[in-house]
Amino acid sequence: MAKKKLNIGLMGCGFMGRTHSNAYNKVNKFFDLEYEPVLKAACARPEDESKLIPFAENWGWQSTETDWRKMVERDDIDVIDIVAPNNTHHDIAIAAAKNGKIVLSEKPLAMNTAEAVEMAEAVEKAGVANMVWFNYRRVPAITLAKQMIDEGRLGRIFHYRAKYLQDWTISANVPQGGQTLWRLDAAVAGSGVTGDLLAHSIDTAVWLIGGMDSVTAMTETFIKERELQDQPGVRKPVLIDDACAFLARFKNGALATFESTRYARGRKNQNCFEINGEKGSIFFDLEDAHQLQYYNHEDDAHTVGWRTILVTDSSHPYMKQWWVPGCVIGYEHTFINALADFLKGLETGKPIVPTFRDGIETQAICDAVLKSAKTGVWEKVEG
Ligand SMILES: NC(=O)c1ccc[n+]([C@@H]2O[C@H](COP(=O)([O-])OP(=O)(O)OC[C@H]3O[C@@H](n4cnc5c(N)ncnc54)[C@H](O)[C@@H]3O)[C@@H](O)[C@H]2O)c1
Repeated sequence: MAKKKLNIGLMGCGFMGRTHSNAYNKVNKFFDLEYEPVLKAACARPEDESKLIPFAENWGWQSTETDWRKMVERDDIDVIDIVAPNNTHHDIAIAAAKNGKIVLSEKPLAMNTAEAVEMAEAVEKAGVANMVWFNYRRVPAITLAKQMIDEGRLGRIFHYRAKYLQDWTISANVPQGGQTLWRLDAAVAGSGVTGDLLAHSIDTAVWLIGGMDSVTAMTETFIKERELQDQPGVRKPVLIDDACAFLARFKNGALATFESTRYARGRKNQNCFEINGEKGSIFFDLEDAHQLQYYNHEDDAHTVGWRTILVTDSSHPYMKQWWVPGCVIGYEHTFINALADFLKGLETGKPIVPTFRDGIETQAICDAVLKSAKTGVWEKVEG
């Protein structure tokens, strides 16, 4: 049967531009879907045009734009996919929704909760499908963890322990801002590791074990001043959080710790969590993404112990779409899995989580964390 074409307009051609372009190219090769994305147009800032043209040629984008406003008004675009820095998400998403486009946004959904609420209201008012790309939900081992928790295999949850560690800003010579280091510029990123890395850990945690009630946090900016990338010789204070650690109480009574930094020498992208329940525990580490560690207290006394589940079997989430048991998949597949879910959702009319409305919760938790780091007291997560 002929596929329904879905014309995509991609906003950004950097790191996420590549992962999403790859997903649009591959999704129909591996998943049986009614919809087929067409790579209609890719957009970047005018100053990035020299990267945009080869990017578009490489990935098969049919046309390019250097003004996002033009892109959201194009009649030949059905979907606006935002893979640009955080301070662009709000305005692009709202304009896209007003033009009747389906809207997909990279995380963090927005700069703060107020923006996220406006974005959710805009897509709901326009009645357009939407999703936040929290791609780690689509790591098969994490989806399996969700399945096991929902099946009651962990029982009552007591503890959640998450870490998201990197080490790329330790040198005081790393500049801030400009085209490639916007993550260090609070005006563009909104926050540091809280919005960039902990947003992932928080989204995963809330999805796995439910909502958060309150938090108490500390943050630190280890390098206080950095040179501006686009104004060599000019140094400005660094206003983002380099590191953040917080305690949380979940609504179900579970206690949690979250830690993130870009100063953990040797850790490149360690995103891991452990959950301890009455009947068992689970441990996951993105650096071993094809494995889920599981301890089942109900096992026989003489064989009980941590076991490693190799999440590559056709009975595991997403894996029957990929290779044969024992063959692992990688980072890029999480975006293809997410896209496949989204396209399936369009077929069935069922919203695919996390929607923009779901994304508000993670944003509210990030805001509470940053507030607590300033006030030094426990902060309630706003409903
Ligand atoms: N899901 C994940 O795991 C993950 C990983 C990395 C980044 N992200 C998110 O994806 C987004 C993009 O991050 P990245 O690492 O790809 O950034 P990047 O710096 O590699 O690329 C950003 C792109 O956005 C374009 N851009 C900037 N301003 C624009 C504007 N006004 N209009 C149109 N295009 C514009 C730039 O030209 C560039 O092509 C961020 O929100 C980030 O938090 C998510």
